[in-house]
Amino acid sequence: MTYREDVEGLDASILMHPKVWEASGHIENFTDPMIDCKQCKARYRLDVLGDSMADKKKEKAIRELKESIKNNDTLLKKIDDKIASAGNDDPFTLLLEDSEISKLLLSQLNCPQCGNKGTFTDARKFNLMFKTFIGPVEDSSAVVYLRPETAQGIFVNFLNVQGASRQKLPFGIAQIGKAFRNEINTKNFLFRTREFEQMEMQFFVKAGEDKKWYDYWKAERLQWFKSLGMTPGKLRYHDHPADKLAHYAKEAVDIEYEFPFGWGEIEGIHNRTDFDLSRHEEFSGKSLKYFDDQSKEKFIPYIIETSAGASRSFMAFFVDAYYEEEVKGETRSVLKFHPKLAPVKAAIFPLVNKDGMPEIARKIETDLRKSFKVFYDDKGAVGRRYRRQDEAGTPFCITVDTQTLEDQTVTVRERDSMEQERVSVDQLSVYLLSKLHTS
Ligand code: GAP
Repeated sequence: MTYREDVEGLDASILMHPKVWEASGHIENFTDPMIDCKQCKARYRLDVLGDSMADKKKEKAIRELKESIKNNDTLLKKIDDKIASAGNDDPFTLLLEDSEISKLLLSQLNCPQCGNKGTFTDARKFNLMFKTFIGPVEDSSAVVYLRPETAQGIFVNFLNVQGASRQKLPFGIAQIGKAFRNEINTKNFLFRTREFEQMEMQFFVKAGEDKKWYDYWKAERLQWFKSLGMTPGKLRYHDHPADKLAHYAKEAVDIEYEFPFGWGEIEGIHNRTDFDLSRHEEFSGKSLKYFDDQSKEKFIPYIIETSAGASRSFMAFFVDAYYEEEVKGETRSVLKFHPKLAPVKAAIFPLVNKDGMPEIARKIETDLRKSFKVFYDDKGAVGRRYRRQDEAGTPFCITVDTQTLEDQTVTVRERDSMEQERVSVDQLSVYLLSKLHTS
């Protein structure tokens, strides 16, 4: 966003008028199917139940299900068709998502917690929005919701931002912020949490240009992950089939990363058409039409959404960057973050705490800190200091040594190659900037 003149930034409210969530469809549709074990009361999300089961168990359950309905040719064909169409998806989960098959399949399963068979309730819809109340009275007229996505704050502010920034179509509005979802099963560290950070961008375009911009952002967003060093072979697209699209989407794709626990979505790109702005116009009674001063027409733009989890993407960058390497008979743990992502860009060390070296190192630290996040360390042997910075993913370590006293140069050690070069103290800032922008 910072580097594009066609995208504006926004920080919208977390608590918005409850009608926003009626208009968006969240009150009606933002639900997960949930089942309970009648025996031990454990609660599961139906669509992820299969993730915690071994493949053999799932295959056995499907075999037993088919055996139990062996005279029902229509249902047997429906099951076989679903399995055949699964592609990258888990066929077991596809079967569970079908209300007719789900009931029968659930009766073949043992509860993962207590082990009892046939103890699951039918699936029920569970709304994922956290509710709270405005003011002291906790009645239905005072209900508000913690936003489950940042997108709606962008839609309702579309004309405010467009008017203030004087942007013309096509242009985008982006924001980073907290989103809250009452997830039934949180899991895998930052992958699924109830409170998480999203970074979303809504790109407003003319109807008819939506496909072009959808394809543009689909390519652009995958390239963004690659440009920040994510291993290309661990990234893939997952296009949503037409019958699985969200209620607002005409076309949708997930960018997935291969985590140690399997492939998972890190970003979704949707062609949301004119659904959102039309609905907010209808529910608020206020026009959200864009005025095109060339054609003199007023119309509702189409929206291409890029919706990434900041915390989930961070986890993908984090696991992708983690290496353990053998160096001189010792294991070195290193986070090979792209320099742009590294939380600390450079560490500054005096080789020894005497002979004027700390003073020079402190001066370098103060000068660099104006432009970069840096860290000063004078504790322990230099080798240990390097290792500590490797673990934090710091791309450059700058050491002031005896030669510095003679020629005002320092050693700069690069994290991944561990190679060192001498750089003039007065060139350090330029050196770091060029490394950050050319990597
Ligand atoms: N506005 C569209 C939207 O919110 P989404 O696929 O529900 O789409 C977008 O969420 C991104 O938010 C996901 O790709 C994921 O990275 C992140 N995300 C969603 N639920 C999450 C959760 N419970 N914990 C962490 N990240 C989550």
